[in-house]
Amino acid sequence: MSEKIKGFSKLSKTGKIQWLANNHFDKPEQAIKLLEQYWNEDSAVQKLHDEFSENTVSNFYMPFGIAPNFLINGKVYAVPMAIEESSVVAASAKSASFWMERGGFKAEVISMKKIGHVHFVYTGAEEKLFSFFERNKDKFYKDTESITKNMRMRGGGVLDIILKNKSEIEEGYYQLEANFDTRDSMGANFVNSCLEQFSQTLEREISLDSSFSDEEKNVQIIMSILSNYTPECVVRSEVSCTTEELVEGSGISSEEFVEKFSRAVHIAEHEPYRATTHNKGIMNGVDAVVIATGNDFRAVEAGAHTYATKDGKYSSLSHVELKDGIFRFWIEMPLSLGTVGGLTSLHPLVKFSHELLGNPDAEELMMIAATVGLAQNFGALRSLTTTGIQKGHMKMHLLNILNQLEATEEEKRYFVDYFRTRTATHSAVVEEFHRLRGIPMPEKVDVNKR
Ligand code: MEV
Repeated sequence: MSEKIKGFSKLSKTGKIQWLANNHFDKPEQAIKLLEQYWNEDSAVQKLHDEFSENTVSNFYMPFGIAPNFLINGKVYAVPMAIEESSVVAASAKSASFWMERGGFKAEVISMKKIGHVHFVYTGAEEKLFSFFERNKDKFYKDTESITKNMRMRGGGVLDIILKNKSEIEEGYYQLEANFDTRDSMGANFVNSCLEQFSQTLEREISLDSSFSDEEKNVQIIMSILSNYTPECVVRSEVSCTTEELVEGSGISSEEFVEKFSRAVHIAEHEPYRATTHNKGIMNGVDAVVIATGNDFRAVEAGAHTYATKDGKYSSLSHVELKDGIFRFWIEMPLSLGTVGGLTSLHPLVKFSHELLGNPDAEELMMIAATVGLAQNFGALRSLTTTGIQKGHMKMHLLNILNQLEATEEEKRYFVDYFRTRTATHSAVVEEFHRLRGIPMPEKVDVNKR
């Protein structure tokens, strides 16, 4: 254990690396070499990446893959996906191609409002506060005019501000709740700046208002912050086709497939254990697009899972219906995304992603990301209810296992061929690898990797 370091952030990049290598690694040279190996050779690009965050010492690579053939509202996209989990991009691409041949995805943005709150405590009479708020409401808008000017010019801004009594949660707890239209930006900084100004206006105006006693004037601002739960920034995407089209060429009976698929969705709608994994699969697709386009996947995750509980119990974000021989499968979820600001014009690969998608606006990007989530979910459910997930997953994971075993390119080709007709479990790959090389199996087998 190394001792506490003071002023780590003030060290130069080389200083930070030296300290890390000397204090945390048995072979400092190797550690330094590894970190440097991941630097961009163009020092300007490296500097750009270093400045995205703090205490940066290297870059952390993620695979950047493409899922082509996404037909959404009549337009074809090749979708960029940043994700490390094998088989996600392949599953998305497979579903996209499948649905392209069946009319593609129809998506729509239902609403685009962002929301935030000033959380505060006021201990006086409720009516006094409400009447004060109505008398002074204009001042909240006026005081934020310099912050909202550009956004208003783009057609957005503060939509409304309301006062809420939340004293059932905590004595004297109130909120100023505000809705915002942030146009094509995700808008976190804009929303938070407005909210912080609202809190100052609130404190100032109450202190100047003679209808309040000195004690009542003593409002305590707890915090001013946007909410990542955006139930009014929601997108929907759906696919539909006849049940015959659904199984065309697969040799599976349409009744059986639709019945099992629908039951799988129904289970996720009612059983939180399954819903969590079901939604995780959806987020495999959504997050990969969110990351590739420079958006905040933590915000998207948090909002999506809260939305999944909106009816009082954690449930599926996707739904299915079979009516008059037509299979319909759709997703509805909140997605607060931006196509301007943040990393969108800074990170070279993020810029590339936006260009690849035809520089969509925020609404279009919401539709693309939700659609990839739906495609991912369709692919997962189709595998789960037919062949099982491991067949396809392990096929994609095979290269990871072979890389761990340090297989040569020739050996990799052999294994891909060998497991074309066999199930590639971890132990089966390891066994065949040792047999092929004519070396004994290691005695201690890590059961966790099976
Ligand atoms: C794995 O990352 C995602 C799945 O578990 C999703 C699901 O079960 O629906 C395959």
